Amino acid sequence: MKVLKSIAEVRGYRKEVSGSVGFVPTMGALHQGHLSLVERSLNETDLTMASIYVNPTQFNNPRDLANYPDSISVDQQLLQAAGVSAVFMPTYDSLYPDDYAYEVNEKQFSKELCGANRPGHFTGVLTVVMKLLNLVKPQNAYFGEKDFQQLSLIKGMVEALFLETEIIGCPIIREADGLAMSSRNLNLSSCDRGKSSLFNNLLSNNMLSDEEIQKELGLAGFEVDYVVTKGGRRFGAVVMGDDAGPVRLIDNVEVVS
Ligand code: PAF
Repeated sequence: MKVLKSIAEVRGYRKEVSGSVGFVPTMGALHQGHLSLVERSLNETDLTMASIYVNPTQFNNPRDLANYPDSISVDQQLLQAAGVSAVFMPTYDSLYPDDYAYEVNEKQFSKELCGANRPGHFTGVLTVVMKLLNLVKPQNAYFGEKDFQQLSLIKGMVEALFLETEIIGCPIIREADGLAMSSRNLNLSSCDRGKSSLFNNLLSNNMLSDEEIQKELGLAGFEVDYVVTKGGRRFGAVVMGDDAGPVRLIDNVEVVS
């Protein structure tokens, strides 16, 4: 597996290779969810590229950025073992030569749900994804449905700005107790990890209204950001942990009527 660090290296690599390219952008701390995206890409394209970059512009909370789990060498081994051909690992200075003077901003859906309490989050996500797609020029790019709002906004951006990549959403991969896999789960204390399965459990309960679920989560000790049903899906975001290390969890489920 090639490790590409500079913009020149990723551009050079892209010119060298032929056939269709699938791309899996990540922020590292890889788990089975990321590997399922890699597997799908390997099945659908000739060659798979990934990126590992903890993008500071999408973190509205500096403590969340500082606490973001980091396991670069294990991540590289996992990608290589899975069959990824090249991983792009840029630095801030190379990816943001403009020091974030230019951004991609969506004005509606990005202000709802996670966007309501995380100002600038989706602008950071859309901007970095735009940069990565422009550099990697993949035929397909793979994103998990756990970040459903992110996935819809990226699809919208690609359509609105006429990018030529197909954005492919992949199903949420869950732990045995229902918790959606996420890099942030690594930061849960064992007590919070035990309690965390209640989040998906309650979200999936069709007998309860959004308000009832919020109330139950609150009683169980979760700090609830939102529980909202929209477009046939129920979305939720909660915070667990204490002041020293709050951990934000998001999830969504299809509403079966
Ligand atoms: O979902 C993520 O890991 C990130 O938001 C992404 C898409 C890699 C952009 O930094």
